[in-house]
Amino acid sequence: MIPESFIQDLLARVDIVDLIDSYVPLKKAGANYAACCPFHNEKSPSFTVSPAKQFYHCFGCGAHGTAIGFLMEYQGIGFVDTIKELAGRAGMQVPQDDFKPGAPVSDHGTMRGLVETMTRAMHYYREQLKSSPQAIEYLKKRGLTGEIAAKFGIGYAPEGWQNLEAVFPDYNAPELLAAGLVIENDAGRRYDRFRDRVMFPIINQKGEVIAFGGRVMGTGEPKYLNSPETPLFEKGRELFGLPQARAALRETDTAIVVEGYMDVVALAQHGVGNALATLGTATTTTHVQKLLRQVDRIVFCFDGDAAGRKAAWRALENALEALSDNKRIGFVFLPDPEDPDSFVRANGAEAFQKLVEEAMPLSDFLLRELALRCDLSTSEGKARLIYEAKPLLQKLPTPLLRLQLVKRAAEVSGFAQAEVERLCELKSFAGSALPRAPRRAPSLSKVLLRLVLQLPELALRLPVQELPDTPERGALLLVHQIVSQGGAASYAGLREQLRNRPEEAAIEAAAVEFLASPLDPTEIEAEFSGILLRLHEGGQKRDFAELQSRVRRLGVAGLTLEEKQEYLRLLSTRGKEG
Ligand code: UTP
Ligand code: MN
Repeated sequence: MIPESFIQDLLARVDIVDLIDSYVPLKKAGANYAACCPFHNEKSPSFTVSPAKQFYHCFGCGAHGTAIGFLMEYQGIGFVDTIKELAGRAGMQVPQDDFKPGAPVSDHGTMRGLVETMTRAMHYYREQLKSSPQAIEYLKKRGLTGEIAAKFGIGYAPEGWQNLEAVFPDYNAPELLAAGLVIENDAGRRYDRFRDRVMFPIINQKGEVIAFGGRVMGTGEPKYLNSPETPLFEKGRELFGLPQARAALRETDTAIVVEGYMDVVALAQHGVGNALATLGTATTTTHVQKLLRQVDRIVFCFDGDAAGRKAAWRALENALEALSDNKRIGFVFLPDPEDPDSFVRANGAEAFQKLVEEAMPLSDFLLRELALRCDLSTSEGKARLIYEAKPLLQKLPTPLLRLQLVKRAAEVSGFAQAEVERLCELKSFAGSALPRAPRRAPSLSKVLLRLVLQLPELALRLPVQELPDTPERGALLLVHQIVSQGGAASYAGLREQLRNRPEEAAIEAAAVEFLASPLDPTEIEAEFSGILLRLHEGGQKRDFAELQSRVRRLGVAGLTLEEKQEYLRLLSTRGKEG
């Protein structure tokens, strides 16, 4: 049996919004998230997920439950398998059968235990700030009021090696070590990690204290000491200032991502409440995904130095995958050596907001940066630009933005648009890349023509009799004829024989597509045989419908013997499929 305490820990660790969003894309709606219900058919969203309650509910069909319930119902799997899957996602080990309820999950204690430990430490550090004039003076000097310090839960870890001994009943409890609050030396002796530092608690979406950053007040290394990665804290997923920014994020629909703790706090002090910081790491795709779920625009505002520019580029690279055409990403480059903290203190909030308004769009930054790396006055440089653009364009899941970038890359490089697409091996968005959008499939004949143009030998397998009567039919028959006569093995060869034929226009149109995004050979074969099969089935369906209407009019007796046999054959194959 899986102990109840483990299930509670698991639920505490898994964020239901993250979980459900990975199956059903969610859109923010006030304090909750919404989507069309995956459990019944509907056109407008009545399925909501509450991050605060960690619960989903559908106002349409009444489905509701926790992360566990969602996964069970969505995947149609049992309880134990669900727990295993969720535990896997959360990096937790499902306890063995001999597990005693109530005992810690492992030697680091329960997740809830860790959160409680961190919360207690935060309260202690905050208390200590009140009686440390030196720390208060430091924060004042940096322009912070008590109100903002309180809003961010800023505290102070006093000097001394074992202050937490007085705070926790058992200084040797596993949670203290696992939470990263103490360090154990080789002799097994413990001491506090944070000593004589101003403490910034890092609080997650759910309002749990998961880590700290501690700043020295004078000079000293490191300037900021952070909690290590713990079961609670994974740097690449978390942002500093998220719960404090929530209302401002909603209001502005924009997230400003900065580098430092003090940048976030100083901006808030000046009334810019929608800033967040990554935690001494590069911005990850997860960060961007998390933010784009809450807002439609992200503006990265990094320091004006070389490191800041590099950080901006990393952010760009990692943001591409998370983009969609209705989201915007911008970049602000502060004049060196400013950071957002110093800038807002020197120039005020209005000047800062102006920079945010006028942020450089992602596409401009991308092209400008690539252009800087290549000498565009030479052919080599122009080729290099496309070479550098390739991995970036390939990551973009946004048809419109990608097309814009392709066009501009074509302009500066001197290649044609179709050539850029082909050279960068950009997959067309016509297929699976555009999920869920109800769109008409391109006609089978069109796809067929495209495939045959890319690989003319396929023309030999065309079902000449069954080709439907479409504008492409003539072109397909012509290609079939040329190839059957041994006329052409490639598009180039084919092209020469098509000049000035009436079919030329249809062929030209299909050729543009395959030149822009050629398929790989295995895809071609799969597509081609798939279409042949569907044409064949379509043909049979038509035959059957015709026979059936004659049977209705004349009775079976009205059919010829051949027709009767065909009718029976079709009846029996239909029965098998249905
Ligand atoms: P900065 O060195 O730019 O610091 O580091 P800052 O935010 O401007 O800090 P102040 O204004 O001097 O107080 C940016 C961020 O990088 C991480 C911290 O998250 C910091 O806020 N960092 C920096 C560390 O984790 N450790 C360090 O030693 C330095
Ligand atoms: Mn700074």
